[in-house]
Amino acid sequence: MDYITGIQTLKKEKNAVVLAHCYQNVEIDNIADFVGDSLYLSRMAAKTDADIIIFAGVYFMAQTAKILCPDKKVLLPDLKAGCEMADMINLQQLRNFKSKHPDIPAVCYINSTAEVKSECDICCTSSNAVQIVESLNVPEVLFLPDKNLGKWVEKQLGNVKVITYDGCCPIHHNITTDEVLKAKKQNPETKLLAHPECKEEVSALADYVGSTTGIMNFVKNSSGEKFIIATEKGVLDRLKRDYPQKEFFSIKENLICPSMKLNTLEDIYNSLNNETFEIKVDSDISKKALKCINRMLEVSTAGVK
Ligand code: 13P
Ligand code: SF4
Repeated sequence: MDYITGIQTLKKEKNAVVLAHCYQNVEIDNIADFVGDSLYLSRMAAKTDADIIIFAGVYFMAQTAKILCPDKKVLLPDLKAGCEMADMINLQQLRNFKSKHPDIPAVCYINSTAEVKSECDICCTSSNAVQIVESLNVPEVLFLPDKNLGKWVEKQLGNVKVITYDGCCPIHHNITTDEVLKAKKQNPETKLLAHPECKEEVSALADYVGSTTGIMNFVKNSSGEKFIIATEKGVLDRLKRDYPQKEFFSIKENLICPSMKLNTLEDIYNSLNNETFEIKVDSDISKKALKCINRMLEVSTAGVK
């Protein structure tokens, strides 16, 4: 079966768009309308006039698209595609965290559930987290679930105390400074590009820290020829494809988010054909979470294309 042609035909018939995160299997780009980081994909979801959005990504991304477009059908090809970090905090845990630090605004990373977003003040992504926290103009913020991103933001701003929840992305958090130093030694004269979900000490060694799209744009605009990539393999695969004249190295083999790799072209074809699996969000939760997301979109200009 030629899934690429099948998906293209169904997309036209059903007025559907495919949004794909850059950690997806690289062949998915052949049928994707938009490929990028969380912020870019949220913006594309918010402005599409398609009737159906297929999210080639993980659950919180599809849920965010549904919150932004409650009248559209939003499909996730595989319901098992969750995010380990988003699952580290539920509503009760958020309430406990907030009750320990009353009257401090809560900033939630977009990698969180709709319920968690519904009780936070503002959302952020890896590409606008610094700008979002700064926009609050307060001396202290709560930041969840990612402690690494939160601490990185604190370091960038210098004048805001960021009180972090104890969550992280296991894939990024497991990158060690020893592995980074070894990769640098093996590949001299390379630039290290890291995602801010990496531990503070890893980010501190990087020449550039940014979102997945930020890392790809850095390579695009750099005269450098050699790069070590400290994020999920999907970014490395796309860079190798797009810049064959440059050299890219991974920190280690198999830097893979298993959930992100669940979606295949066959799953996307079946998802579009059968209109499965539809994402639904309770309308009260959705309205509250929308405020949190919209507040971010109003503040943030980063990632606008
Ligand atoms: P980006 O917003 O940088 O694409 O990151 C999403 C993510 O899940 C990183 O692990
Ligand atoms: Fe979640 Fe980490 Fe996978 Fe990103 S890479 S989706 S933060 S588990």
